[in-house]
Amino acid sequence: MRERLIGAVTATDEVGAIRPRRLRRLAGLRRLVRETRLSVDQLLYPMFVVPGEGVETEIGSLPGQMQRSVDRMGAAAREVAAAGIQGVLLFGQAAVKSPEGDEASSADGAVQRAIGEIKETSPELVVFTDVCLCAYTDHGHCGVLDGQSIDNDASVERIAEVAISHAQAGADVVAPSDMMDGRVGAIRSMLDAEGFSETAIMAYAAKYASAFYGPFREASGSAPAFGDRRGYQMDPGNAREALWEVGLDLEEGADIVMVKPALTYLDVVARVRAEYDAPLAAYLVSGEYAAIKAGAARGWLDERAAALEALTAVARAGADIIITYWAPEAAGWLDEGPTH
Ligand code: PBG
Repeated sequence: MRERLIGAVTATDEVGAIRPRRLRRLAGLRRLVRETRLSVDQLLYPMFVVPGEGVETEIGSLPGQMQRSVDRMGAAAREVAAAGIQGVLLFGQAAVKSPEGDEASSADGAVQRAIGEIKETSPELVVFTDVCLCAYTDHGHCGVLDGQSIDNDASVERIAEVAISHAQAGADVVAPSDMMDGRVGAIRSMLDAEGFSETAIMAYAAKYASAFYGPFREASGSAPAFGDRRGYQMDPGNAREALWEVGLDLEEGADIVMVKPALTYLDVVARVRAEYDAPLAAYLVSGEYAAIKAGAARGWLDERAAALEALTAVARAGADIIITYWAPEAAGWLDEGPTH
């Protein structure tokens, strides 16, 4: 069709009667025909909760992002909600790390207490919680070790306990990010058995072993003490495997599936979107954010334009939910109208 049209046109008119540029002439016209419209409704904001009191410290590797103790979470969440953001994704940290990450499932843990604080100050915010062990284990891996390797099934048991503790504290959506096999099914059945059939699961379904998590590991103190995460996170070369992983997590009962990172895996986002109808999230990770921030700090990039372009790309690839450190700021930018 496309070729026939162009052929017909070039036969009668040297330049061509069909000129896509006509619709790019006016800002209003461009907005009318824009295919992807970014909305604040799509943005989910990650926040870091740490033990202690009176803590509100900017994270060196994530400019503009803070580590906060529970007593500072209420006010911060209120601001996020006031910006029009619908949900937050909480990351915690242990006061005392241990081999099995005991504190991760403690009712007095930072995340568990923060959930209550947020629900009290901003009941309209949807609270998602990251479910993992890496910020709680003394070895920094996402599961329980058997010698130098991860014991998948023992890890799944611990991960499910963490998820239950979040649900008990009032989390609306639990989000396992450990990449152990079978954890979504285990979490679903334990949640149901404990009376939390309404608590949803957002599975980090296709989570890659990425260099772009670097700044996050500083933020949550979760860098592995030895080795790396290639034994459980996905190989960057694989896209078909992502469809397999997503399919498994949906079969096990995931309500939302996620691809992570987002920008460097837009093809995977698009393929998952094409194959599955389930709600899809994509996580614009710490390194993707920090790279643009660093470029902007040097005057090499226009942060607002670059960030909105990146977020639009993730939406265009097919993500319903975009997890981003820019969420509150982007909400303000979107209020001002599009850049172009
Ligand atoms: C923990 C976890 C990580 C991220 C989210 N959950 C780090 C990792 O797997 O090493 C990365 C988030 C980011 O980089 O923004 N399992």
